[in-house]
Amino acid sequence: MRSLLVTGGAGFIGSNFVRYWLERHADDHVIVLDKLTYAGNLVSLADLRADPRLNFVHGDIRTPGLAERLLRQHKATILVHFAAESHVDRSIVSPEQFLETNVLGTHVLLEAARAVGLERFHHVSTDEVYGSLDSGEPAFTENSPYEPNSPYAASKAASDHLVRAYHHTYGVPTTVTNCSNNYGPYQFPEKLIPLIVLNALQGKPLPIYGDGLNVRDWLHVEDHCRAIDLVLRSGKVGEVYNVGGDNQWNNLALVQLLCRLLDETFAGTPTLGGRFPLCPASRQQTASLISFVQDRPGHDRRYAVDSEKIRTSLGFVPGEAFANGLRNTIQWYLQNEAWWNTVMTGAYRDWIRHWYGQDA
Ligand code: NAD
Ligand code: TYD
Repeated sequence: MRSLLVTGGAGFIGSNFVRYWLERHADDHVIVLDKLTYAGNLVSLADLRADPRLNFVHGDIRTPGLAERLLRQHKATILVHFAAESHVDRSIVSPEQFLETNVLGTHVLLEAARAVGLERFHHVSTDEVYGSLDSGEPAFTENSPYEPNSPYAASKAASDHLVRAYHHTYGVPTTVTNCSNNYGPYQFPEKLIPLIVLNALQGKPLPIYGDGLNVRDWLHVEDHCRAIDLVLRSGKVGEVYNVGGDNQWNNLALVQLLCRLLDETFAGTPTLGGRFPLCPASRQQTASLISFVQDRPGHDRRYAVDSEKIRTSLGFVPGEAFANGLRNTIQWYLQNEAWWNTVMTGAYRDWIRHWYGQDA
């Protein structure tokens, strides 16, 4: 039996990872450390509430001594670090919290890892640290230069550098994954895919920033969890692995696809029209809600990840076909209205009003 400390385990990827891990590693014990910010919600772990293999600790990764105490108390040998402020638009409005959590918080955890002598410190990072690509440029490799453009990306880049330094200087056994855009269940509805699905269900505009031609490389969250599992099992200490879906879409094409899938879903289940009377999908017209809005300042044009290293060294291949993954994600949001009603709190509504200048 192993014990893992998982930071940010009540967020989108963290909660999927906890579920993934406990399903596949029956003898292991997971301790989640999460501050429960607006993006972290215990309802995302509700199905695991009675599982004796899971402990939840409500706390801040920045609290001195807390992570170290938890690692010692539970004899944890692995720390998987998801906790972060993760939304680019919020980092544009208030960068400070990104530095506090993403940079200083990571530092506190690295100190804890160093003090305790962990077997592995796995840092979950993003492709956004590499900056932006033009249309013909090759995808980011692990050797691409760091050129972060948003306060979010800069804070993650700084945390990556700290992880590297703690490995080189103190011998902390680190691994890092830099992953592309994730989608799937439990994603907070400020990010593109759940925002579009939930706005459409409520008959609200589907906001597309700028010309809609910015490109992202989408990966199902379960594929990301599998990549981290592979790196924990067989990855080499001190190494960095890029993880992508080899699945580039511009935002407009992706939103149009989501609109088509919603139209199809409503056509296949006529009762949905009664449940969501404001949604034009019952008339096969979801795309009529598409609305171009002012661009994000400093909006990165294109991300694309070269996953050659993790594919050839660890055998990672994304498993979920995109249209199928999106269909299942739409189904998940349809079946979990209680979840999204719970997480879309006053703070969420304030954010939407502030950023989009309209009511949530
Ligand atoms: P999220 O915003 O959904 O969840 C973040 C979680 O961290 C929340 O549960 C929140 O409560 C917790 N948290 C925040 N500050 C904390 C603190 N000070 N102490 C303890 N807990 C705290 O984020 P996500 O989308 O699940 O991303 C998880 C990680 O993966 C992040 O590090 C992010 O940079 C990285 N990542 C995300 C994506 C993506 O597409 N979402 C892609 C690549 C990498
Ligand atoms: P997002 O989900 O915020 O992820 P990231 O900025 O980390 O890639 O956004 C994905 C893309 O969608 C990005 O190019 C910005 C764009 N976008 C919109 O066009 N409209 C929106 O309302 C949001 C939230 C994002």
